[in-house]
Amino acid sequence: MAVSELAIETHGLRKTYRTVRGRTVGVEGLDLAVPQGGVHGFLGPNGSGKTTTIRMLLGLVRPDSGTAAVFGVPVPQRLPEVVARVGAIVESPKFFPAFSARRNLQLLADGIGAPRARVDEVIEQVGLHGRARDRYRTYSLGMKQRLAIAATLLKDPDLLIFDEPTNGLDPAGIHEIRQTMRALGDQGKTVLVSSHILAEVEHVADTVSIVTRGRLVASGRVADLLGDATGATVQVQVAQADVEQATRVLATAGYVVRSDGGRLVVDGAADAAELNRLLGGQGVWASELVVRRPDLESVFLGLTQHDVPGGTSHRGERRLWGGGGAGGRHGDDGVGPVGATDESTDGVRA
Ligand SMILES: Nc1ncnc2c1ncn2[C@@H]1O[C@H](COP(=O)(O)OP(=O)(O)O)[C@@H](O)[C@H]1O
Ligand SMILES: [Mg+2]
Repeated sequence: MAVSELAIETHGLRKTYRTVRGRTVGVEGLDLAVPQGGVHGFLGPNGSGKTTTIRMLLGLVRPDSGTAAVFGVPVPQRLPEVVARVGAIVESPKFFPAFSARRNLQLLADGIGAPRARVDEVIEQVGLHGRARDRYRTYSLGMKQRLAIAATLLKDPDLLIFDEPTNGLDPAGIHEIRQTMRALGDQGKTVLVSSHILAEVEHVADTVSIVTRGRLVASGRVADLLGDATGATVQVQVAQADVEQATRVLATAGYVVRSDGGRLVVDGAADAAELNRLLGGQGVWASELVVRRPDLESVFLGLTQHDVPGGTSHRGERRLWGGGGAGGRHGDDGVGPVGATDESTDGVRA
């Protein structure tokens, strides 16, 4: 993929922090590729290096080594050339509690030389138009966060970077922010959103990068990652008297069947209708067929289950950009150790 097609690209990005207990690895040779347009989830557990990476992209932290580019422009070296195209919420901006959203945004717009007409546009964009004249202090957390997003939109950036924007929000607030991000992605903006809750971003992101311990463990289109996982499982409920025959019928057809408390579980079989047809053909009637698809959480756990300390290999990394590479699904070997180096304290800093 050509550099110009990527909103963000990093190679071997590394950052260690000096602490009283020695060195802590923040980011350990990270290769990121964020395509232009749409929502990209930057996912990983707490302490996996998401904030450190974002801070490096924004020139707030200097990498030890490696390279990063935003819209093909090397950062931090030439950050001033692209900074106008980037809006970010890393720490919540301060708003005046006694002023309305509109007044707060007008002040910010004046500060950065954005036209005042822009204020009403961004209020509309984040869906705050109904409440724009109310005081900030009367806002819900979700509304406050949407106002923060509105502030980043004032200069009409092409790339928006939100570091855990839903932290501390209730489900309604999370939903609001998700919708706002989705709308921005649909407008052609690139949204990089970090989260330690994979499920929260799964339904809003077009593409994701999943990191753990400062390393990339998987990246690509969400649909590809989920499709590449163990596949859907179908739970089949039949009458107790039919369990044996049903198992035989499905096993004969080549399915891997196990029984789970009176239910049959068929792994890697997405086609429930086919199972239904096979069973019905032998006079066994299913009372229930439930298709369970893997989510990002299970993909992530599958990738990191061999995550034992001591290994430093890059073998744990998988790339799905551009059609998934040569062999499709990797065996266990392809998801090997993504372990810590001996310097790493794995986010358990005191
Ligand atoms: N200023 C700092 N000083 C020392 N260690 C830090 C500092 N910031 C982050 N770290 C460490 O770097 C690692 C990655 O942290 P961070 O980038 O905040 O991860 P995330 O955002 O994914 O939770 C963690 O082990 C964290 O403790
Ligand atoms: Mg963080």
